[in-house]
Amino acid sequence: MFKKNILCIGAGYVGGPTMAVIARHCPEYQVVVVDINHDRIMRWNSDNLPIFEPGLDEIVSAVRGRNLFFRTDVDEQIDGADIIFVSVNTPTKTFGLGAGKAADLQFWEITARQILKNSSKPKIVVEKSTLPVRTAAAIGRILDSNEKKIHFEIVSNPEFLAEGSAIRDLETPDRVLIGARETDSGQAALKEVVDIYKHWVPEEKILTSSVWSSELSKLVANAFLAQRVSSINSISALCEKTNADIEEVAKAVGMDSRIGPKFLKAGLGFGGSCFKKDILNLTYIAENYGLSEVARYWEQVLEINSYQQRRFVDIIIKQMFNTIVGKKIAIFGFAFKADTGDTRESPAINVCRGLLDEKAQLAIHDPKALDGAAKDLEEYAGQFILESDPYSAASKAHAIVIATDWSQFVSLDYARIFETMEKPAFIFDGRNLLDHRKLYQIGFSVHRIGRPPLSKL
Ligand code: UDX
Ligand code: UDX
Repeated sequence: MFKKNILCIGAGYVGGPTMAVIARHCPEYQVVVVDINHDRIMRWNSDNLPIFEPGLDEIVSAVRGRNLFFRTDVDEQIDGADIIFVSVNTPTKTFGLGAGKAADLQFWEITARQILKNSSKPKIVVEKSTLPVRTAAAIGRILDSNEKKIHFEIVSNPEFLAEGSAIRDLETPDRVLIGARETDSGQAALKEVVDIYKHWVPEEKILTSSVWSSELSKLVANAFLAQRVSSINSISALCEKTNADIEEVAKAVGMDSRIGPKFLKAGLGFGGSCFKKDILNLTYIAENYGLSEVARYWEQVLEINSYQQRRFVDIIIKQMFNTIVGKKIAIFGFAFKADTGDTRESPAINVCRGLLDEKAQLAIHDPKALDGAAKDLEEYAGQFILESDPYSAASKAHAIVIATDWSQFVSLDYARIFETMEKPAFIFDGRNLLDHRKLYQIGFSVHRIGRPPLSKL
């Protein structure tokens, strides 16, 4: 018999790891994770988890079957829960009003109605998904529209975990944010959610706020992080024109304690499921409230991000004598960042598309993301191959493109790789990851982001 029953609807990148960590630290709570995707749940119940995240396997195998359960019977699980976390996806709308910008809330609404239909007693519903500010009001109206007079309290508890470091971020978060209504029932619900995190997070790191501040803070935190990446990338373009070095500039700027060193790594721009979606969302909301200057301001963060990827493709083509038709190019990395198999919005997608449109032949290597690559580039089938071995990918290639910052790429034997490549052999390091001087000494022409090239030509 468990002290409390927690349910999480949505067993994705957010729901799965978050619930595993809650279950680990709260053995007296039962944590059930449900999803409409049966395959996903089957994999959560197997040794081959549906997502790759360092440290996740160990936690899941320690708590699964103890107080963590993955199931598909969504309806049946609802009424037994005291607290329901909802972490279903909220992609950017692709149709109708707000297409390309607004968040598509259909899964959230379906889930809210599902909760309502299957409930016979009061519940706390926690927004885990990133949602537009004031979504709780709309969800609240749906949940309150019941004739059963059941009380649902909506709490916002946005997730700040980053993929690849999800377990560390959950175990030792910078802060946990929980927003609730000022009413007595709102504050009681807030306390219940705080109590979960108090099991392992120091109290001073548990921040409470209004629901609206909490919803908005998540969007703003992601927008600020993305803005830093675009800021440094915009300067990388200027470095390339002036022979300044972006790594040196970033270091000098980041040592100002008011600015700080994090998120100043120039590269191919940000990917991942959140940054672009959240900024689009922020601009859409700003526009809706008539704040077009605010919307334009944040749109530029996205514009610089696409520009950075276009610019990189142009450099590759130009350096390779203005034609890459039929040339084999090895792509090292396809995931949107290291230590994840996720390719959502990966900069590698745009870079590869740019090269494929110029009729290059790609050999794509990634330690975890080859399935994603095959799906993301399916319209180019026949023009690329997937390689689990980086040496085979580079063999007979004219160039290597580093698209993801996997640490394994640093320790490859580039002298051996050089021998097997067509000459002149190029490396385009889109992540400023490798030891460029060493590569140059081996014989490569090395092009990087925001730094002078080391070129034999
Ligand atoms: C998602 C959102 O992208 C993000 O904005 C939010 O902060 C958290 O939820 P993520 O976990 O990465 O992040 O999404 P995803 O991996 O797509 O997982 C969502 C899961 O919800 C999927 O497994 C999907 O099958 C499930 N789902 C969706 C339901 O169980 N019911 C639904 O009605 C819709
Ligand atoms: C992000 C937020 O960090 C997290 O708090 C939120 O909950 C979800 O969105 P995530 O998208 O998983 O997490 O990864 P993150 O580490 O933030 O990286 C996002 C992208 O920015 C990656 O493509 C990464 O390569 C890129 N990036 C990051 C840079 O190009 N330079 C940097 O300095 C940092």
